[in-house]
Amino acid sequence: MKNSNNHPMLIAGLLLCGAGLLLPASKISAQQTSIWVAPKEADLIKNPLEDNLTAAKEGKKLYLQNCAVCHGDKGKGDGIAAAGLTPKPANHTSDKVQNQSDGAIFWKMTTGRPPMASYKEALTETQRWQLVNYIRTLKTPDKLKTATAKN
Ligand code: HEC
Repeated sequence: MKNSNNHPMLIAGLLLCGAGLLLPASKISAQQTSIWVAPKEADLIKNPLEDNLTAAKEGKKLYLQNCAVCHGDKGKGDGIAAAGLTPKPANHTSDKVQNQSDGAIFWKMTTGRPPMASYKEALTETQRWQLVNYIRTLKTPDKLKTATAKN
C-alpha cells in the first residue's frame, strides 16, 4: 500500500519561519565600500570605433562638457566637484582604469554608480564609445595631439 503522508500545514509553518530571516531595511547599510568591477560579459562588448582617433577627438569635447567637472580636465580625478564626493572620481590615467577592457569602461559609464550617474539616456552609444576612445588617449596624450583626420 502507498503511503502518501503529506503535511501541508507543517510546510506552511516552515515557510513562515523562513520569512522571519529577512533583514529589516534599517539594518542594510547604504555605505559603498566595495571596488567597482564590471561583469565579465562587459569585456565581450566590441568597440565599433576601436583605434579611431577622430572619434577620440569628439570624445574629448564630450568629456570636457560632461565628465571633467568630477574627473578633471586631464582625467586625473581632480575636477572641481571631486573634493565633496565619496568615493572619489576615478583617475582615468591610472593603470587601474587603463588595464580594463573598452567594453568594461563602456559598461561603467552606461550603468553608473553613485555618485556618478548612468549615461545610458544622456549620451548615445556612439558618444559613449567616443568617450572610451578619448579615455584611452589619456595614457599617452601626445597621440591625440599628433592625430590626423584620416580615420
Ligand atoms: C558627479 C561626478 C561625476 C561625473 C559628472 C562623472 N563621473 Fe565618472 N565617476 C565618478 C565617481 C565618484 C566614480 C567612482 C565610482 C566608484 O568607484 O564607485 C566614477 C567612476 C567612473 C568610471 C569607472 C572607473 C574605474 O575605476 O573603473 C568611469 C569609466 C567613469 N567614471 C567615466 C565617466 C565618464 C565618461 C563621465 C562623463 C560622461 C563621467 N564618468 C562623469 C564621478 C563622476
